[in-house]
Amino acid sequence: MKILVTGGAGFIGGNFVHYELDHHPEDSIVCLDALTYAGNMETLREALKNPKFSFVQGNIADRDAVYALFEQDKPDVVVNFAAESHVDRSIENPGLFLQTNIAGTGVLLDACRKYGIGRFHQVSTDEVYGDLPLERTDLFFTEETPLHTSSPYSASKASADLLTLAYFRTFKLPVTLSRCSNNYGPYHFPEKLIPLMIINALADKELPVYGKGENVRDWLYVEDHCSAIDLIIRGGRVGEVYNIGGHNERTNLEVVKTILRALNKPESLIRYVTDRPGHDLRYAIDASKIEQELGWKPQTMFDTGIQGTIQWYLNNSVWWRNVLDGSYRAYYDRMYKYR
Ligand code: NAD
Ligand code: DAU
Repeated sequence: MKILVTGGAGFIGGNFVHYELDHHPEDSIVCLDALTYAGNMETLREALKNPKFSFVQGNIADRDAVYALFEQDKPDVVVNFAAESHVDRSIENPGLFLQTNIAGTGVLLDACRKYGIGRFHQVSTDEVYGDLPLERTDLFFTEETPLHTSSPYSASKASADLLTLAYFRTFKLPVTLSRCSNNYGPYHFPEKLIPLMIINALADKELPVYGKGENVRDWLYVEDHCSAIDLIIRGGRVGEVYNIGGHNERTNLEVVKTILRALNKPESLIRYVTDRPGHDLRYAIDASKIEQELGWKPQTMFDTGIQGTIQWYLNNSVWWRNVLDGSYRAYYDRMYKYR
């Protein structure tokens, strides 16, 4: 089987490429990635040595480039990770999110129709469900929870979900869709909470916590997300949505304090900053559908996974130091300097 992985030079896509090459050596992988600020060829260093892996630089919204790739490589399965993925950036520049996340997904769906496909899998997010009240810890997102988005990012992802499901209903395209909670682990770009806090703490820099730090996220180790997608593309029912989550809910403050403890750094590094506009309060996933239908279960609990992740950042400083270039510093100043 030939799998086209879009966005494979990013955090989850890169981990997925490694997962597939390790677990399905019989399959081949083509990665299409535009190499935006979030794409990093270093993440694919080991994969590039594997003859079953190839890389194409290109934009999923570039119809000619996508059609040419389908014509040449004839993928059996497409897994679409390519996206603008950071909520804060979507507040700065919503248009880019509409272009990549909606128009780009539309081009991929058209290519799948035109050239034929065994499966198109859209990697989506629990953010499409909006948020849950902090005090209602009995509530979880199920696949039936209505879409109710808060940020331009989540609105663009929800639009792509609807488009994907429309191509199933109208054109009988064999699609599946997954909505996952917050991932963490190796190769996570340091604009996101966990890697940003690890890297700042290592440099004894302030840790910017939005609002009171009481917002809750449901953290899933990235390899567990990869194993879930792997099960869905091979055994999931077409036209279906699968929630993926870890039952590892933590407040942001708990996460930050765990990182500080692990690195033996003082809590005085925490700085409370102006809250994110429209900040979602709590995410929590009910993953019983994928557990029952496909036998998926997360293997790594947060307390173990976070220690492994911190260790990964300690061992791989070359990877993240290379990311902290001028554009990252400019982003950091824009986002945090006067916050
Ligand atoms: P990321 O930002 O780390 O990586 C995105 C990748 O997509 C990068 O390699 C980038 O170069 C590439 N890309 C961006 N625009 C592109 C375009 N127009 N054409 C081709 N490639 C393009 O993102 P991530 O955190 O790995 O997220 C991957 C997917 O998973 C996204 O669709 C995101 O919505 C979804 N998701 C993420 C999380 C999470 O916690 N990070 C959770 C649930 C779902
Ligand atoms: O739930 C899945 C989503 O998780 C994915 O769809 C997104 O692509 C991914 O970025 C992530 O979104 P979040 O907004 O939850 O992740 P982020 O790491 O940006 O923030 C996590 C929490 O930490 C959130 O409540 C905001 C807070 N935060 C974040 C940053 C970057 C801070 O307090 N300080 C910060 O500097």
